Amino acid sequence: MRQAGRYLPEYREIRTQAKDFLDLCYTPDRAARVTLQPIERFRPDAAILFSDILVIPDALGQQVRFVEGRGPVLEPISGPDDVTTLSTGRVLEHLAPVFETVRLTRAELPADVALIGFAGAPWTVATYMFEGGSTRDFNTVKARAIGDPETFDRLLDLLVDSTSQYLKAQVDAGAQALQLFDTWASAVPASLFGGWVTEPTRRIVEIVKAHAPDVPVIGFARGIGPRIPDYVTQTGIDAVGLDSAVTEKEALAIQAHVPVQGNLDPAFVLAGGRPMEDEARRIISELSHGPFVFNLAHGINKDTPHENVEQLAEIIRSGGKPT
Ligand code: CP3
Repeated sequence: MRQAGRYLPEYREIRTQAKDFLDLCYTPDRAARVTLQPIERFRPDAAILFSDILVIPDALGQQVRFVEGRGPVLEPISGPDDVTTLSTGRVLEHLAPVFETVRLTRAELPADVALIGFAGAPWTVATYMFEGGSTRDFNTVKARAIGDPETFDRLLDLLVDSTSQYLKAQVDAGAQALQLFDTWASAVPASLFGGWVTEPTRRIVEIVKAHAPDVPVIGFARGIGPRIPDYVTQTGIDAVGLDSAVTEKEALAIQAHVPVQGNLDPAFVLAGGRPMEDEARRIISELSHGPFVFNLAHGINKDTPHENVEQLAEIIRSGGKPT
């Protein structure tokens, strides 16, 4: 559940003690506590590391801030010179607190609860680096990438390199599975999908697998629908996260090749009650005959009552059968 903490009172409490969001990501004892909070409440089968996809631009030397009520704000890349000033040389040093968070969390987690590490996929991280924050239309990053492909490729190379280093070090610190978030993959034109999405992801998977062949890598390329099968085979990921637009038929066809994860729309958890129960049971009955990890299709809404999450966890634990 991405950007999940905000619906929990105990997260909001720790968050007020930190200087800002990045400070929380870089304070291992607090970040580990935040990682463990939903585990203590809901007893799921896995925990996801508390960090953010934008620690990579921060580690490369771009200015990144999280502004209350506005989300991430970056000093946008505006030309080739801005890419030249970025450096992968100190990524591991800069992100050492995150690896310490992984170690502390792994030491606290029950043995049968897996710890999932993660990073943003290069395209999605690049959108923030060029746009200077969140965007609806992706016009700036797309026009610049199309207009100056050499510079964009250099940036993708830096992201492949730094993200691979980051994920390998998460594994060394105790992460047992990895997830790559390509949240904005659907904005990429079909003719450029290989260069911007598939190939950078494939390279990261290859580098990480050479280092840690047994650690599963989950890919999540949101909103790409019929392109998921190609995304799976061409990147070499071990499992795939599904968004809530993926149909049962599509999901079953994908599941014949790789495990699937998903895909309850977070709006059902926000609404709660019978509709949430019915939808969760439908997904479980359709997908649990093959390799399947129940999850939300996307990050939980921050106004979600935690009672709804508790109820959802009960339904999943009971195997989705009516009580
Ligand atoms: O759920 C978790 O807490 C796990 C850790 C996690 C966070 N972000 C913490 C976070 C993960 C896996 C992410 C991923 C992430 N971050 C993505 C991919 C998301 C997906 O579901 O596909 C993206 C696009 C980001 C970038 C990002 N981080 C944005 C756009 C924002 C602002 C959101 C907003 O509405 O203000 C964040 C902030 C963020 N990352 C929060 C958390 C808990 C909220 C920070 C706060 O406490 O205010």
